[in-house]
Amino acid sequence: MKTYYQERAPVYDRVYHYPERQNDLRFLEDFVARQFAGLNVLEIAAGTGYWTQFIARKAHTVLATDATREVLNQLEARELPASVATEVIDAFALNNLSQTFAGAFAGLWLSHVPKQSLRQFFSGLHNRLLPGARVTFIDNTAVQCQRLPITDEDKFGNTYQDRLLDNGITYKVLKNFPTREELLELVDTIAIEPQHTELDNFWLFTYRTTIVK
Ligand SMILES: C[S@@+](CC[C@H](N)C(=O)[O-])C[C@H]1O[C@@H](n2cnc3c(N)ncnc32)[C@H](O)[C@@H]1O
Repeated sequence: MKTYYQERAPVYDRVYHYPERQNDLRFLEDFVARQFAGLNVLEIAAGTGYWTQFIARKAHTVLATDATREVLNQLEARELPASVATEVIDAFALNNLSQTFAGAFAGLWLSHVPKQSLRQFFSGLHNRLLPGARVTFIDNTAVQCQRLPITDEDKFGNTYQDRLLDNGITYKVLKNFPTREELLELVDTIAIEPQHTELDNFWLFTYRTTIVK
C-alpha cells in the first residue's frame, strides 16, 4: 500500500473533486476545524494534507505524519501555517513519538488497516494521547464501491479493490468498511461520548479518551 500511495501522491487529491462528495466534504471540513480548535493534534497517515489544511486553521499545532516522504512533500507544498510540522512515521509505530497530544485525527486510514491489526493500531495511538483527548476518524462509506468494486476477500475478512494508476499499473489495495458496532467495540474501554455519523459518502467517528493506560 505504501508504494501505491507513493505513486499516487501527485494525483491523490482527485478524490476530493468528485461531485457526489462535495456536500459531505464541506460539512466535514468545517467539523474538523472546530473539533481541534486550540489543541496540539497528531494526524496519522496525513497523506497530501487535504484534512491538515482545515485542522490547522484553528489547532494550536499539528504534527502531520505518514509512512512515506513523497506524500508529505505534497502536504508541505500547500500553504500551511507554521504551526504544522511533518514527520515520517509508521502508524503502527506511534510509540516512537516522544510527544503526547490532546487531539488525534486520521482521514481515510482505518479502512486500510487490516482487521487483525486494528487493536494494535488503537493501542499505539491511545498511548500517545492525553486523558480527555479528542479523537476523530473520517472514512468512506460503502458507496465508494460504486467507483471501485470489491474484487477479493482474505481469510480475515479484509476486502480488496483493484486500483489502476496513471502509470498503467493496477494495485490490489486493502479497503475495509468498518461498521459503527465494530468501531465502538474497538474503543469501548477508552472512549467516552463516542459518536458515529453516517453521511452519504463518508462516515465520521469521534470520541474523547478516558485515562490512558
Ligand atoms: C487513503 S490515504 C489518506 C490520506 C489522507 N489522510 C487523506 O484523507 O486524504 C492513506 C495514507 O496512508 C499512508 N500509509 C500507508 N501505510 C501507512 C502506514 N503503515 N503508516 C502510516 N501511513 C501509512 C499512505 O501513504 C497514504 O498517505
